[in-house]
Amino acid sequence: MSIAFARDAGTAAYYDKRAREYDDWYTGEGRFASRERPGWREEVIRLVEFVAALPAARTLDIACGSGFLTRHLAGLVVALDQSPAMVALTQSRLPEGVAMTGDALNLPFPGGAFNRVITGDFYGHLPEDEREHFLAEARRVAPELIVIDSALRPGLPASRTEERVLNDGSRHHVYKRFLSPTQLAAEIGGEVLFTGTWFVVARSVQV
Ligand SMILES: C[S@@+](CC[C@H](N)C(=O)[O-])C[C@H]1O[C@@H](n2cnc3c(N)ncnc32)[C@H](O)[C@@H]1O
Repeated sequence: MSIAFARDAGTAAYYDKRAREYDDWYTGEGRFASRERPGWREEVIRLVEFVAALPAARTLDIACGSGFLTRHLAGLVVALDQSPAMVALTQSRLPEGVAMTGDALNLPFPGGAFNRVITGDFYGHLPEDEREHFLAEARRVAPELIVIDSALRPGLPASRTEERVLNDGSRHHVYKRFLSPTQLAAEIGGEVLFTGTWFVVARSVQV
């Protein structure tokens, strides 16, 4: 069976269902309260500060999720996600911006519509064919691409299919990769901007 994420109906249903409890991953509440994640809280704060410090730009946040990071972006912000529940949450946190449903692999925007694309914890979920589509779409709509993702840590495989359990007890399967800073930068053809235990960020710019 081939791996899919962005094109997988089960994954789409999973994230829509997870929207209300999604921030627990960041805040360490709910099911994440018992997770051993040394330095997590401090690093999330550092990541939020990194996002807030990005120069203002006409930005498209692809696969914005609940808007946990999106709300800190400066400039004209459009946030896109395929989950209506995630989009509703993001819109409630983005009074000056627009959140909308849409497909990251088939963006509903003309070429060059934005200065910057940013995406958080999405790229690292994509199998190779979806990755190629995503990168082509991101580059079509903006010259700058910033990818925030999950760091490769000692003892972790580079990729795996994870079982995820939601508060209602439902079980879901999600493909995920973990990336070193240099691997991520090499894949997108850019430079490393943030190296953490939990998160990595890289940026590429087309001239
Ligand atoms: C792990 S969450 C990341 C959310 C957020 N960017 C963050 O950093 O917290 C992945 C998100 O990708 C979205 N997603 C999955 N496939 C998508 C697609 N084809 N188009 C748009 N969004 C998609 C899901 O709905 C989910 O909100």
